[in-house]
Amino acid sequence: DISQKVEALLSKMTLEEKVGQMNQYNGFWDATGPAPEEGLAALKYEHLRKGLVGSMLNVRGVEQVREVQRIAVEEARLGIPLIIGFDVIHGYKTISPIPLAEAASWDLQAIRRSAEIAAAEASAAGINWTFAPMVDIGRDARWGRVMEGGGEDPFLGSRIADARVKGFQGEDLSSPATIAACAKHFAGYGFAEAGRDYNTVDFGTSTLRNVVLPPFKAAADAGAATFMNAFNILNGIPATGDAFLQRDILKGEWGYTGFVVSDWGSLKEMVSHGYAEDVAHAAELAANAGSDMDMESYGYVSHLAGLVREGKVEEAHVDDAVRRILRVKFELGLFDDPYRYCDAEREATVIGSEEHLEGVLDMARKSIVLLKNEGGLLPLPKDGKRIALIGELAAEKNSPLGSWRLAADDNSAVSVLEGMQAYGGNDLVYEKGVKVIDGRQHFVFETHINTTDTAGMAAAVAAAKSADIAVLVLGEPGFLSGEGRSRTDLGLPGLQQQLLEAVFAANPNVVLVLNNGRPLALPWAADHIPAILEGWQLGTQAGHAIAQALYGDHNPSGKLPMTFPRSVGQVPIYYNHMRTGRPEMPTPDEVFWSHYIDERNSPLFPFGHGLSYTTFEYSGLKLSSGQLKPGGYLTATVEVSNTGGVAGREVVQLYIHDHYASVARPVKELKGFELVYLEPGEKKTITFKLDEALLSFYTARGVWAAEPGTFTVMAGGSSETSLSATFELTGPKR
Ligand code: IFM
Repeated sequence: DISQKVEALLSKMTLEEKVGQMNQYNGFWDATGPAPEEGLAALKYEHLRKGLVGSMLNVRGVEQVREVQRIAVEEARLGIPLIIGFDVIHGYKTISPIPLAEAASWDLQAIRRSAEIAAAEASAAGINWTFAPMVDIGRDARWGRVMEGGGEDPFLGSRIADARVKGFQGEDLSSPATIAACAKHFAGYGFAEAGRDYNTVDFGTSTLRNVVLPPFKAAADAGAATFMNAFNILNGIPATGDAFLQRDILKGEWGYTGFVVSDWGSLKEMVSHGYAEDVAHAAELAANAGSDMDMESYGYVSHLAGLVREGKVEEAHVDDAVRRILRVKFELGLFDDPYRYCDAEREATVIGSEEHLEGVLDMARKSIVLLKNEGGLLPLPKDGKRIALIGELAAEKNSPLGSWRLAADDNSAVSVLEGMQAYGGNDLVYEKGVKVIDGRQHFVFETHINTTDTAGMAAAVAAAKSADIAVLVLGEPGFLSGEGRSRTDLGLPGLQQQLLEAVFAANPNVVLVLNNGRPLALPWAADHIPAILEGWQLGTQAGHAIAQALYGDHNPSGKLPMTFPRSVGQVPIYYNHMRTGRPEMPTPDEVFWSHYIDERNSPLFPFGHGLSYTTFEYSGLKLSSGQLKPGGYLTATVEVSNTGGVAGREVVQLYIHDHYASVARPVKELKGFELVYLEPGEKKTITFKLDEALLSFYTARGVWAAEPGTFTVMAGGSSETSLSATFELTGPKR
């Protein structure tokens, strides 16, 4: 079995070769060209030939991967194959919606399928390990990486983590069409202070255990082959050097058998954090803390063998890390055939296949959220109308790919303009309006957003005036969210708000299609614009998906996985917040309660919100009993009817509130959801099972348990539900 094979190999390895397995290099030369002869690249090349490299990232394409693998297996003494990593975040070449958008589908099957497609394409290009899923909870829309996660909720986030891990890894990791997953960033990276990427993180035990860790636990339980630690410090300790997180919780409490890779350079960044004296010290701290592989810090390869010889790191720690890494390589089948993922024919046929385009189109449609639709302005009539399509993003073929699209061809997305042109019945005119992007499409920073050039505004307004309906596609260009793209302003970048207001003044029949990688604060639009469709960055098939939703060939069914604020000042804003000691205004005009003097507490659009072209009505929430006895269970049933004129899909959501506990509990917590498809007039009864496991949390005693007391159950089509019922969990109270 694999353990015996690992032990047999480990026993043959020198200390340097063991450390080599713990060393990961970024691709550093064109492997189909001549070998590098000088500088760092020449040194790395030597390391590769000597078996001092265990993994490479950012090498892709069968030809390139085959050659680096050949060097590792044919030239190095023990011929241990490399594991080849790549950021396959939401698709390889055929791009799916950004993960935040996929989360809006609440459709675990579709999400799993999307990861399967990504794995099929990446593995056809020689890759066998993705640095995904990112399972960091995102409560702060200023943080640019909320686009890469499953949103703000640990329950939904855990279900998505499970689906994505299973999608990437399939049933059999050794199949050439599946790849190893990596749950990242362990832990707390999403809680960067003020939403500024890489910033300090500080929170207590309850948030760690009840909010941050559950999706990681779900990923580990789903069999995620690897974890990635994080850039941030957490309560003063850099995650990369945190033994409590990596050794005690992950490998201890959870019994995790995969390996942990550092984030890029995060080992040496422990020096910048002021935690390690120098890189050698950082290597010592990271190895002792259970960080198994060093991505691009050169810390292990330069110092770890010496640290072991000096007695600063036990060789047993090195052995443990190497065992974990070798195990994953065995599981991937790389020892049976190091070129298993290097099939040129698969590469030529699988990548960009019709089947994959269909799959990402399905995912894109399901990710769309109808935020507002007053007066039934949507869906658009299919013929006989003049429609003005406005906005630079409407014609964008790059932006919908987002910022994590390393292997996608530039400008390979279907634009909204193209999607709408595929519907011939109306008279469609396009006007760019104001310029948003300055041409540096790959790394656009906020300062490069146009805030002065209004050329195009007048033409857009004139087009809107002469049209029956104006469709504006506004929001964030793809490179305004993602790593290193934090924002302090959550409005429409540049002059787009002005454009929106000018067009609305000329013609109030406005449909606003948003393209964005994070929740935006758009109070004016929410007040004035009759129809708003959340179109995120939906990947390769974005334009078709959006056009099909606009024309009603797809009935939107997405629900927000993250709260949309009214103003940046409310951030972090999330539905599952605590109550506070002064949650409500006690008397009119009272000032001493938890609120703002210049803004409401409520969000612009709540978590779980999303409309449809039909209407759903909820009724008859019932519990099977008013008491839940320890060891037993209750059922909650609710009826959902389609009371509108077309068929539609609804995400039925179940929340609970635990009234008092040894650690205060949130005002509500998602505890179940189900997707239901209803024809007009159809009614279904949805049943949820409630037991102690579902009500459990990390208590003041430091255990997962449900505590006796009163619980309210709520059900509906968003986190702002109206139906509720109460029960008692019996047993001795604390
Ligand atoms: O996977 C990423 C990580 O999320 C951020 N830093 C770089 C890694 C590898 O590209």
